[in-house]
Amino acid sequence: MTENKNKGKKLFLVGVGPGSPKYLTDLVKEVIIRSKYLIGYKYTLGIIKDLIVHDFHQVYEVTMKNQDEIYNEVYKKMQHDEFCTIPFTGDVNFSESEVVDRLLEIFGNDNVELVPGISSIQVAASESKVPLDKTRVLSFHVTDDIEDKKSELVDAIQHEKSVILVPRPWNNNVTKNFMQSDIAFYLKNKGIDTSHLKVWVFEFLTTVEERVFRGKLNELENMDFSPMSVTVIDQVKRRTYLDFE
Ligand SMILES: C[S@@+](CC[C@H](N)C(=O)[O-])C[C@H]1O[C@@H](n2cnc3c(N)ncnc32)[C@H](O)[C@@H]1O
Repeated sequence: MTENKNKGKKLFLVGVGPGSPKYLTDLVKEVIIRSKYLIGYKYTLGIIKDLIVHDFHQVYEVTMKNQDEIYNEVYKKMQHDEFCTIPFTGDVNFSESEVVDRLLEIFGNDNVELVPGISSIQVAASESKVPLDKTRVLSFHVTDDIEDKKSELVDAIQHEKSVILVPRPWNNNVTKNFMQSDIAFYLKNKGIDTSHLKVWVFEFLTTVEERVFRGKLNELENMDFSPMSVTVIDQVKRRTYLDFE
């Protein structure tokens, strides 16, 4: 957060890491400390709870249902030069654009600053030792149609790339789910030999509930995982600089 850049800026959309407050950057902490208004889901407010000063911060816990109303309410309430921060899980720049785009509309593009955080995708890459630059990263956690993304998934696997993805849980409509079991069946139906593909599923990364499944993709058929999970399909071929001499 730089003073010059901030002139006239009001809203900070910050990534607070996938679960543990240890993944909060100093920059994000600074922005939170200076913001009179904090708006977030229960999960992200939980990550920053130790930074909340009850005499200073006005905290709004939102749900999918009431978020739009609250964003508008706070926007109207804010005085010139007051700050508001909205914490996002992981990195605000990954799989959050449906909310970010709405906030740009409400607050105005020039009044909004995005501050990156550490994504669940990055933590999954670290734990599986699968480099992101050799990986197709996909989010199915969107309301939009996912057919094109499913084709990208098939294409990546056929081109022997690794894949790191967040699945799609869908409340009250299982036909819209695209969870690990659905993914395993889908890829098998596309003619891919899923019994040879190495897979990792990470649930509740960086929290005390963290769990890891490691096996072959076909083993995911009929297995249930939390919506709070990241899947890695590991096709890494390790090559060091010595291979290129
Ligand atoms: C809307 S996406 C947001 C992703 C987030 N911006 C990020 O960078 O991690 C939400 C999905 O991210 C994944 N996710 C976020 N935090 C996670 C965690 N601690 N462990 C596992 N998956 C997580 C889950 O798949 C969750 O349903």
